[in-house]
Amino acid sequence: MNPGAATFRAPGRVNLIGGQVDYHEGWVVSLAIDRDVRVRATPRSDGRVVAHSSHFDGQVDIPADGTADPPATRPQWGRAIAGVTRVLAEKGREPVGADLEITSTIPVGSGLSSSAAFEVACALALCDAAGFALHGTDLALAAQRAEHVATGVPCGIQDQMASVLGRAGHAVFLDCRTLTVEHVSMPPELCVLVVHSGVARTLEGSPYAERRAESEAVAARLGVRVLRDATLEQVHDIPRGRHAVTEMTRVREFARALRERDLDALGPLMLASHASSRDDMEVSIPELDILVECLVDAGAYGARLTGAGFGGCVVAIGPAAAATTSAAQATAEYRARTHREPTAWTVRASDGAGRVDEPGR
Ligand code: GLA
Repeated sequence: MNPGAATFRAPGRVNLIGGQVDYHEGWVVSLAIDRDVRVRATPRSDGRVVAHSSHFDGQVDIPADGTADPPATRPQWGRAIAGVTRVLAEKGREPVGADLEITSTIPVGSGLSSSAAFEVACALALCDAAGFALHGTDLALAAQRAEHVATGVPCGIQDQMASVLGRAGHAVFLDCRTLTVEHVSMPPELCVLVVHSGVARTLEGSPYAERRAESEAVAARLGVRVLRDATLEQVHDIPRGRHAVTEMTRVREFARALRERDLDALGPLMLASHASSRDDMEVSIPELDILVECLVDAGAYGARLTGAGFGGCVVAIGPAAAATTSAAQATAEYRARTHREPTAWTVRASDGAGRVDEPGR
């Protein structure tokens, strides 16, 4: 065993409701899930960060002082590591090198925030190697900035906050303006099912940035900084604005229903969220719409696309007792209707990012 080595994990997340509203300082309800990125870090004395991944080819080898240019870093998956290294250097982390061994159980391109988890786990590992600490919201904000710096994708804050602040057995109800979190316990009789549509997507190259710009243009037109400050009356005839304002209301209603165990209310809110994402925000694709229908046909209370849209996963909630049969029925119907290969798994709310205890240490 290497005495200086330590392992850190950061979970992916599934957004139960609250699509395309984090960047308007809205509310979202997510779970940190029981799939994660793990980074084993061993300090190096030569001031280099050298990373290997079980998932991606090649070796990343960059200076630990943040001077590597993130977008220019090769292989491509190293951009995020360069982004994290740069952001941590800006925050005062000493340029201590480290070997990083990275593994992941989060499917890439699924809408389960593999990249946010990657950045959070790398940040924790690099902080530890240099005796530097970042916690909670500061860690989430650093990981978000690393994504901006590395890829230019103008992501919001919900993924990183869920990955950092998740709690086992609980949903994370996040206010993206104040960055305050309420942990709401998940009813044990409820199961959360995630189904990949078989259509991959990455945020980069998807119309995510375009949609974000379109809805920010609505705010500008109305003279408000973000759509959290718009009223339904103001956006009534503007689809992008209407999506944001109605979605924020649905999220708060969803959190209330979860808190008060008003389970009948949850499904219709998710379905309304999907319809609004499809019709007003236009971030769905036919496969995701069909998958939502198949899940409801198979007994789910509600389902909606999760993540940025344009492919990836649908999330559904349903009775825990019927999870396996519902998943089998929904995926069979979806396969028959689309000739795509879906993948389904149940997810459990897990704890947020942190050090992994290693026996014997
Ligand atoms: C991506 C972004 C998030 C959020 C969602 C859409 O996952 O990373 O910040 O904007 O899309 O809700």
